[in-house]
Amino acid sequence: MSVIDEVKQRVDIIEVVSQYAALKKAGRTFRALCPFHSEKHPSFFVYPEQQSWHCFGACNTGGDVFSFIMKKEGIDFGDALRLLAQKAGVTISSRFEPEAGKEERERLYQVNQAAAQYFHNLLLNSAAGERAREYFTSRGFSLKTITDFQLGFSLNSWEALKQYLVERGYTESELLTAGLVIEAEAEGGKTHDRFRNRLMFPIHDIRGRIVGFGARVLDDSLPKYLNSPQTLIFDKSNCLYGINLATAAIRQQNLVVIVEGYIDVITAHQNGFNNVVASMGTSVTEKQVGRLKRLTKNMALALDADAAGEEATLRGVGYENTLEAEVKVIILPRGKDPDDVIKEDAKIWQNLLEEALPIVDYTFNMVTSELDLNIAKGKSLAVDKLLPIVAEMKDTVRQAHYLQKLARLVKVSQHSLEAALGKIKPSQGKRQAKEPSQERVTHAVHPLLSSPVEEYCLALLLQHPELKGRNEGLSPEYFENSENREIFTAWQQANDLSSLKDGLDSAIWEHLDSLKTRSLPANQIEQKYTNCVLRLREKFLRSLEVKRAGVLALEAESGGTAAELAKLEEQGIEVSVQLGEVFTQKSRGSQEQRR
Ligand code: UTP
Ligand code: MN
Repeated sequence: MSVIDEVKQRVDIIEVVSQYAALKKAGRTFRALCPFHSEKHPSFFVYPEQQSWHCFGACNTGGDVFSFIMKKEGIDFGDALRLLAQKAGVTISSRFEPEAGKEERERLYQVNQAAAQYFHNLLLNSAAGERAREYFTSRGFSLKTITDFQLGFSLNSWEALKQYLVERGYTESELLTAGLVIEAEAEGGKTHDRFRNRLMFPIHDIRGRIVGFGARVLDDSLPKYLNSPQTLIFDKSNCLYGINLATAAIRQQNLVVIVEGYIDVITAHQNGFNNVVASMGTSVTEKQVGRLKRLTKNMALALDADAAGEEATLRGVGYENTLEAEVKVIILPRGKDPDDVIKEDAKIWQNLLEEALPIVDYTFNMVTSELDLNIAKGKSLAVDKLLPIVAEMKDTVRQAHYLQKLARLVKVSQHSLEAALGKIKPSQGKRQAKEPSQERVTHAVHPLLSSPVEEYCLALLLQHPELKGRNEGLSPEYFENSENREIFTAWQQANDLSSLKDGLDSAIWEHLDSLKTRSLPANQIEQKYTNCVLRLREKFLRSLEVKRAGVLALEAESGGTAAELAKLEEQGIEVSVQLGEVFTQKSRGSQEQRR
């Protein structure tokens, strides 16, 4: 997930705006005297569901939380981003200064490598490692496997590793930064080994450098695994266990299989399933998916039936949007993990792989199997559960496919589903997404974070310089997302598309690049662009109409003055005239197409 999206997920527009305006709740909105111009009667509104704001008074404009801060503080997008990131506790500096701390990181890789060698040697050669050797044998690991994965053993001692590494020139402070030792407060900050009497699983990055460790007990005491803490080079949500050994197979088979555990990966590899990596106990994160995308677009998640349902509804489509491809699920037999299945019979695992279902189809099956689709209630429940999933899809072809499937399942016309789809506000789930549960790291791509039409339109403009000359009356206001608005404004101002980045904050470059490289249909570009502008204008006007109608209702209730009501009415007439124009143009366009 981009830093922009992360900030958006973490900040709440109500909290932010509250610091500049005395917001009062009014129905499903909040209102205040406009913080941008002086007025006696409040005409400034904030919409928590859309995370947007609008002033119906003198400003007659609106936007999202970034545009609010930009306008209020008089700063550009980059500074608004940094300000909000700071409020939200999102660190951005390191991402934009990849060179900073390079030497420090290099040193951490080294110390981890030295520690791994030490643990590995103890496992293979020490008398104290006897029980650990027996344990791995009991799990069926061969010597080759133990070497390939550089497995190890840590002594039942407080200072063995520390002493070993200090003798080799590493400082205590480096060991602390690497998370290999911990400070014991009770002993006045004295440090001791973090990993003691455990089986050691070094965690490598894709380039084979050791970024951290997982450490398992030899019996069934708790906690079963201890992991390295977050460090300069280790972020659990960013790593995939086994990736260093799986890359070639992932590319070759054009598929990655994601399991949960260290042991699952190792057993899979030992049995020839080399395209397997682990998310290390948590849900797969956006960051992990983003990394894998460079190797393959095909991903299969090994999940138990319960987790699969949850994953599908919460994150599945998000992953698909990131990958621009389908995600499959391998449903594990109840109570078993891949290690159990493969050990029992590798053929069963092979069959499960072959039977893997696209995550959305799986969810469709699961939801509909519990409902009676011949009665109205069952139909509407199915639509309630499944349509929001379809709504999230960025790929229009896939969206159309599932819309059709849903229409057939509930025996309702596709047309009425399309209408319902248009009404789904990209808002539900925002608050849930804000508070990820502790164990399951959720980074769903929320619809709020993206606007398919806005992005499609920008992709057209960026990839077809010939459109620059066409004036379709596109306005920055039509882009609700600030980063899209920024890109559009930069496009308007740039003489040459190759210099676009100069006018944009570097935080937006990634988004810009993804729009530039998005695959687009190759024909009838001009017509697609015209349609797209119409859709954007319609989206903008409709949203304005809904908001304005809400304000009008509030005003009428609370006895606003005649002048204000008249002004709102007038704005409303203006909006509906413009909407009328959109419809005329649209129907003219489709007539031309038919000819
Ligand atoms: P599991 O409990 O399924 O363990 O956790 P496992 O990998 O199957 O190990 P065995 O077969 O019981 O020996 C799955 C993954 O979740 C993470 C680890 O990455 C583990 O491999 N985990 C689990 C932790 O990080 N800490 C824990 O305390 C437990
Ligand atoms: Mn297991």
